[in-house]
Amino acid sequence: MTELIPAPRSVVAGSGEVRLTARSEIYASSETEGAGNWLRTVLRQATGLPLREGRELDDAEGGIGLQLDPGLGPEEYRLVSDSSGVLIEGGSAAGVFWGAQTLRQLLGPDAYRRAPLDRDRAWTVPHVTIEDSPRFRWRGLMLDVARHFMPKEGVLRQLDLMAAHKLNVFHFHLTDDQGWRVEIKRYPKLTETGSWRARTKFGHRASPLWDEKPHGGFYTQDDIREIVAYAAERHISVVPEIDVPGHSQAAIAAYPELGNTDVIDTTALSVLDTWGISANVLAPTDNTLRFYEGVFEEVLELFPAGAGEFSEFIHVGGDECRKDQWKQSTAAQGRIKELGLADEDELQAWFIAHFDTWLTARGRRLIGWDEILEGGLAEGAAVASWRGYAGGVAAARAGHDVVMCPEQYVYLDHRQAPGEDEPVPIGYVRTLEDVYRFEPVPQQLTEAEARHVLGTQANVWTEVMESQERVDYQSYPRLSAFAEVAWSSLPAPGGRDFAGFEERMAVHYRRLDALGVGYRPPTGPLPWQQRPGVLGRPIEGAPPNR
Ligand code: ACM
Repeated sequence: MTELIPAPRSVVAGSGEVRLTARSEIYASSETEGAGNWLRTVLRQATGLPLREGRELDDAEGGIGLQLDPGLGPEEYRLVSDSSGVLIEGGSAAGVFWGAQTLRQLLGPDAYRRAPLDRDRAWTVPHVTIEDSPRFRWRGLMLDVARHFMPKEGVLRQLDLMAAHKLNVFHFHLTDDQGWRVEIKRYPKLTETGSWRARTKFGHRASPLWDEKPHGGFYTQDDIREIVAYAAERHISVVPEIDVPGHSQAAIAAYPELGNTDVIDTTALSVLDTWGISANVLAPTDNTLRFYEGVFEEVLELFPAGAGEFSEFIHVGGDECRKDQWKQSTAAQGRIKELGLADEDELQAWFIAHFDTWLTARGRRLIGWDEILEGGLAEGAAVASWRGYAGGVAAARAGHDVVMCPEQYVYLDHRQAPGEDEPVPIGYVRTLEDVYRFEPVPQQLTEAEARHVLGTQANVWTEVMESQERVDYQSYPRLSAFAEVAWSSLPAPGGRDFAGFEERMAVHYRRLDALGVGYRPPTGPLPWQQRPGVLGRPIEGAPPNR
């Protein structure tokens, strides 16, 4: 009865059950009102029961009570279901909210529906005592909405799916060569020009196919405020990414003066319509710095610190900045000389350091991809280790906080099976079991160094995910396995029990069905999930263990 995902720390089953009825109430102490409102809303929809608001804990007799227990850790909770009802206590409002997510799982897959299938059915919670807390504080999902835009409704749905899996950091990849997705009031062309492209490569870069229709979209500032607030209600921090100085062609297409105008005619650039890394990177000029300070000023307002545990972080990208144009640019070379730098790599480090200092002065923390480590970083800056484990090891040893997201384990754009019918196969085969066995903490780290590992995140790059259906297919069920990696402590000794996980997944698939998630079935893609004839870029063999 308790096929929970992610697995809790401790489950002690009792022998009876709590039955929710028309008389059952939900009591939430003032500090846990948010979780109470959330639980009341979703359970009223699914059950059709009134689940009235109780005014004190005793009102919840035979119902559900939520309150704090200051003796518990920040995200820790205890759920006790017994003859007096269900009581969820947490060390914080977040802990109570995660406990409420567990309660929804205990009620069965139909608790994930938005209207009752049968108003006469019994809703029961087995008698049980669950004690639970997360292994990692940062349990993230990165969604690339630049390569393919996901409308706001889809983003809110992603946040609901994350909450159902106790994931708590939404890394929002808002800008790239192929699109700029956030309204910036002082630079309207970023979205007027930068948020759409006339056509799009269909399949991997080498594919001859094009989708010959405009693609685009962006979030207004109010959309962003709504997304951030919706996330905060679910104890999810949103970390926005504005990628500099590479991955910037959409911005340059909108404002050509941001590019290396002494190397190419940047007025002729448009938003990139195919995949790969553009050579069109930002010019290292004062104008560019001032422009992006203007962008970040609005970004800081839209993503306030205090809207979640990790909301102080701003992601500045910093990955894959090609140096071709800087090598040719008289202006960039002049900058290198003027600053006394050795080369273009140091110029990139200078660029990142500028925004590191700028963000730090405003009480925020910079995070970037592991390339940012190459030039030395301010003390508070953090690193997302994507090129394997090495960046994470170097960063932790240098005293920086780290989020582990090595591409060979948790890049969900990589294919999840070797079959011919796997849609648009990219990268290595990374099965559900591979993700389940992923260990975020690099084994080379000492215990003290490992304390810098804030946690882990899975990354969803959307070059070949043109729709929500494609995002669902690549993300699930692997994100369910990832959630367990991020939340559940390793059962010691002997590692993870994949067979046990699969048994619990049998129930979890029914939850995902009720939620309308288009996951990859264990038997392989359904006919409409396939993309026959669309070229991918599969890599053979096992990924390098680095
Ligand atoms: C990345 O995958 N370029 C961070």
